[in-house]
Amino acid sequence: MKLLHHGPEARGKHWRDVVSRALPQVDFRCWPDVGNPAEIEHLVAWTVPDELIASLPNLRTLFSVGAGVDQLDLDRLPPDLRIVRMIEPGITDTMADYVAMAVLALHRDLPFHIAGQRAGRWSWRDVPPARERRVGVMGLGALGRAALAALAPHGFELAGWSRSPRTIDGVDCFAGDTGLAPFLAHSEILVCLLPLTDDTRHILNRVTFAAMPQGARLVNVARGGHLVQDDLLEALDNGQLSAAILDVADPEPLPAGHPFFTHPAILLTPHVAGITRTDSAVHALIDNLRRMSAGLPLAGEIDRRRGY
Ligand code: NAP
Ligand code: GLV
Repeated sequence: MKLLHHGPEARGKHWRDVVSRALPQVDFRCWPDVGNPAEIEHLVAWTVPDELIASLPNLRTLFSVGAGVDQLDLDRLPPDLRIVRMIEPGITDTMADYVAMAVLALHRDLPFHIAGQRAGRWSWRDVPPARERRVGVMGLGALGRAALAALAPHGFELAGWSRSPRTIDGVDCFAGDTGLAPFLAHSEILVCLLPLTDDTRHILNRVTFAAMPQGARLVNVARGGHLVQDDLLEALDNGQLSAAILDVADPEPLPAGHPFFTHPAILLTPHVAGITRTDSAVHALIDNLRRMSAGLPLAGEIDRRRGY
């Protein structure tokens, strides 16, 4: 089995050592030392230059080092190439922590209090108990479910929304187009953990915000392309939404002077919510290489027609 790593040199060398110890039969190469490109069957990468793909005529699998695959232009990749997203505890645990932090911060009005501190204002708002706060998570995949599990101990009233019907203990689950309106009506704090696809691009827009309770709050930890930025600013200005915590933006980084940097109702972080951990992610890769050798389904293989 011949595999090429494309990305930071230090990660490539570390993964080559670990993979070679676990699976001595794998010939693990680190770009740019490709050797004979016709021998490469599997590629591990975040983004892939077109020229690299074109130079690998026998490539069968592309393993993303992250949970998302929207950084790859699927239309430009060979149609029979298998694409596998990363499911590993480093990403899942950090995302679950971040969502718990963000939902608690919005539940307890942290953006309002930070703005108050900056303005020298000493004021407060009533806060309902967590069991009366309704939180909705869009996307019930590996990360949406981990986020819900991290929120559950706080006692929030939880709901979730996915494409196909799901069942999760303690979570009111909605699905598909017909489930969206009742799900949004429930969501006083809405968390977006959807993959970015043709169906989900710009799903966080003024129509979505209008379907949420007045004064609702937003957490976007998925992709900047889910959000219509002007619609968020409008909803914050007219009071339909009261605050937002954004970990992702479009583009990244946002240009200097962008209103999100200074808006008093927005807390912004630089795409740090769910972080691939080098030392744990390599074991997810090894596990999938073993599955491949055994002819088993791969964890995280995407359906290219659905785009996730
Ligand atoms: P996943 O396991 O593929 O789950 C995706 C979920 O979204 C599934 O529940 C799916 O429904 C649902 N979904 C997809 N399209 C939908 C649609 N049109 N309508 C309703 N529901 C839809 O993905 P994941 O591993 O949880 O990751 C989610 C996303 O998080 C990634 O794609 C990435 O963009 C983002 N992310 C961000 C960071 C960060 O640091 N900010 C880090 C990692 C990942 P079904 O259950 O019916 O399939
Ligand atoms: C990060 O955003 C990822 O997709 O893993």
